[in-house]
Parts: sequence; C-alpha cells; structure tokens
Amino acid sequence: MRRKLVAANWKMNGSSAANAQWIAAWRSVASTCDTVVCAPFVYLPQVGAGLAGTGTDLGAQNLSEQAPGAFTGEVAGEMLLDVGCRWVIVGHSERRAMYGETNELVAKKAARAIALGLRPIVCVGETLSERDAGRTLDVVAAQVAAVLAQCSVAKLAAGALAYEPVWAIGTGRTATPAQAQEVQAAIRAQLAAADATAAQQLRILYGGSVKPGNAAELFAQPDIDGGLIGGASLVAADFAAICAAAK
Ligand code: 13P
Repeated sequence: MRRKLVAANWKMNGSSAANAQWIAAWRSVASTCDTVVCAPFVYLPQVGAGLAGTGTDLGAQNLSEQAPGAFTGEVAGEMLLDVGCRWVIVGHSERRAMYGETNELVAKKAARAIALGLRPIVCVGETLSERDAGRTLDVVAAQVAAVLAQCSVAKLAAGALAYEPVWAIGTGRTATPAQAQEVQAAIRAQLAAADATAAQQLRILYGGSVKPGNAAELFAQPDIDGGLIGGASLVAADFAAICAAAK
C-alpha cells in the first residue's frame, strides 16, 4: 500500500512575512499524509526552521546537475541537503518550457539528486497540442524513458514521479480523474516492465489545478498517489484541505 504524498510547489512566490504567516497557519493543522513544502531557494532556511517538528519535509524546486564549483547562479544538491532539504522537484514543465531543460538534463538532475540521497519529484506531462494530436502517452513515455535510462525504478522509488499535464497547470482546467488515471496507469506499466516490484512502490503524483474541491476524486484513483500543488498551496488552509483529502 503506497502512502499518499502531497507536495506544495510554491514556485516563485513568497516573502519572509508571507512565509511566516503560512507556517503559523500550517503549524495549527495536523496533517495525516506525507507532506513536503518546496520553497524558493532563498527561503529554504526560513521555511525549514518553521516546519521543524511538524512532520512536513522541506523541498527545493530545482537543483544543478553539477557538483559544486564554478557554475554561477546554480544551486548544488549538496547545498540543498546542507539547509535541510529532503526533496527536490526536477523537470517541472515551467523549467522545461522556459529554461530549456531537455529530457536528458532532467534525467541527469534526477540521477544527481538520487546519488546525493535527495528524493526527486520528477515531473512529466504533455502540452495541449500534444494531447490534441493524440500523442500524450508517447510524449510522457519518452520523458519517463529518459529518466529510466539513468535511474533505476528502485532508486526512483525513494522519490516520486509527478504527472502534470501542461494544459492543466495554473489554468483552472484540471484533468478529469479518468484522464489522469489513464496516463498514470500507463506510466506505472512502463515502470513495471523494468521492475515490477519497485513500480508498485513508486508514488505517482498528479499536478495541475488541484484544489480542495477536486482533490478527493483525483486521489481516489488507483494510480494517483497524491498531488503536486501549485496555486492552492500558497494558502495554508487550502493546502491542508487538499492533504486531508489524501487521507
Ligand atoms: P497549479 O496547481 O497552480 O495548477 O500548479 C501545478 C503545478 O505546476 C505544481 O507543480
């Protein structure tokens, strides 16, 4: 039985004051599933200190594929561990679309995270034009295959995969539970072809306009093991309601 995992992706949002308010609100709720908050790099120490003792893990939103050295503006996985991160989002569609991250780079970042003992949340998902062209399963399979070329399913199972259809991110247009389940079942079948046991352990999250009102029916699907939450995670009460739906 896979425990549900719900991760907040704050993206490039927050401030010292807003984070402090969020943390104060979060500390007053008891979460019943595994939870992670992925904050912007500069706020990781603040958020990590605020989450101490809550059972909620700290995560980052990206890492360098390189070891520490002369890479101006980059952040190494070692540094994330040093400030208390246990998780890191890898290959979010915003990074793929706006910062040129290829399947190969995403796979390298996932491998680097795993090698360091950081748990990657590796994001995959198709664009609207890919879906409309009937290419969803092929696109997602290629993204997953690139990661499997560098990371075994067993090692990936320490982290998670997140299926995030690009057309559902920040648009208010959620994939239906059946649409998400179809893709996530296909991902699990692909993982199972490589390692059937580990494929049953690896958590596959859904992300894309998850809200308190739609979380429960998504999380009820057999291959949806939790969520990666953007906009709704910025309000602690909404994130708490989504976590409650994952019970
Ligand atoms: P929204 O929940 O804002 O649609 O964002 C989803 C996402 O991209 C999480 O990584």
